[in-house]
Amino acid sequence: MTALAADLLAHRQPGHSLERAFYTDPGIFAQDLDAIFYRDWLFAIPAAQLQKPGDYARVKIGAYDVILVKGADTRIRAFHNTCRHRGSILCQAAQGRVAKLVCPYHQWTYDLDGSLLWARDMGPSFDPRAHGLHPVHLRDLDGLIYICLADTPPDFDAFAALAHPYLAIHDLHRAKVAHTTTSVEHGNWKLVWENNRECYHCSANHPELCASFPLDPEVAGVSPDGSISARLQAHFDACEAAGAPAQFRIDTNGQYRFARMPLEVGAVSFTLDGQPACRRPLGRVAKREAGSLLKFHYPSGWHHFLPDITMLFRLNPVSATETELTTYWLVDRDAVEGVDYDLHRLTEVWIATNDQDREVVENNQRGVNQPAYRPGPYSPDWESGVSQFVDWYADTMIRAQAQARLAAE
Ligand code: FES
Ligand SMILES: [Fe+2]
Repeated sequence: MTALAADLLAHRQPGHSLERAFYTDPGIFAQDLDAIFYRDWLFAIPAAQLQKPGDYARVKIGAYDVILVKGADTRIRAFHNTCRHRGSILCQAAQGRVAKLVCPYHQWTYDLDGSLLWARDMGPSFDPRAHGLHPVHLRDLDGLIYICLADTPPDFDAFAALAHPYLAIHDLHRAKVAHTTTSVEHGNWKLVWENNRECYHCSANHPELCASFPLDPEVAGVSPDGSISARLQAHFDACEAAGAPAQFRIDTNGQYRFARMPLEVGAVSFTLDGQPACRRPLGRVAKREAGSLLKFHYPSGWHHFLPDITMLFRLNPVSATETELTTYWLVDRDAVEGVDYDLHRLTEVWIATNDQDREVVENNQRGVNQPAYRPGPYSPDWESGVSQFVDWYADTMIRAQAQARLAAE
């Protein structure tokens, strides 16, 4: 970390937004990539996106371009999207299906497991076994594919152990992707997260979402002393009695959180009338009004698991002031469009909400860019989640700096 960034973090005012440079400076953005995105486990895709052998999807994170591909053995693997000959991109489309991975330049041909099958006229001493695709670390967590770009990934098992009971009941291996959207928001990735971690802005900006998502700061936030209201605890207890893990759990470093939160009274899904978005449930949550299992995992995604559908949001940093947001709507694989769900009804609330969020994030960025901007105070009632995110970010950057200093000694 530069001396400037380290000094700003060391002297930041807790409970306040960050100094402008954290939202605008390309140098700090590069450090965010190095210290966080190139080091941590990142949510990449739902396993359900790759249904058949040869199905692939590309995910770009900063300078990296990764191919996720389903093998003939049905295992999903990840590789860097660069040919072992002279480095060409292998897969050019965002997703597709292939029999083999064939480089468009000189047609070096790789098996779906990344091994090099064929390379023309490379001479007798050429060893194909030494020229397989560069792998990327990958874990399948109950149907959520995570990748890690680091040579030596940090521990994943503690997160997986905490997550598994919450996720297993949602049966994501039975899911299909009903719809996906991707857009680039002109805002720093931290502004996207800050916006996500509060509903202080919801009443004025999200009329569609407010039909089902409660205007309750406890739902989005994190109480400073870890306490849970009696009303919320009663909801957790009722869900757990019905077999759906619900209790609020947060990682000691604050990187991830699970809690099955209630929706508005009478609402069971993210629809305008609060009724299910899909008649055929995805998963085995027996309690109709279980609400939404809210999961966040910094830095790459927040997810909603409802009794009828699952929604996954993936955040990829593009530049200091641009962030790509991808949204997945998952339904049960046997759900039939037009019979069990209507695509417009399934997606309309979050398509509108994403667009409204893009607009507030972009306005936030434009205002932060101005010379008069100074860090402002978070609402203690409504923005505890934002404060929690910024604390995690600052702690993570300071820890990374200490590790880098140790490594250099
Ligand atoms: S760069 Fe891929 S075959 Fe030449
Ligand atoms: Fe929002």
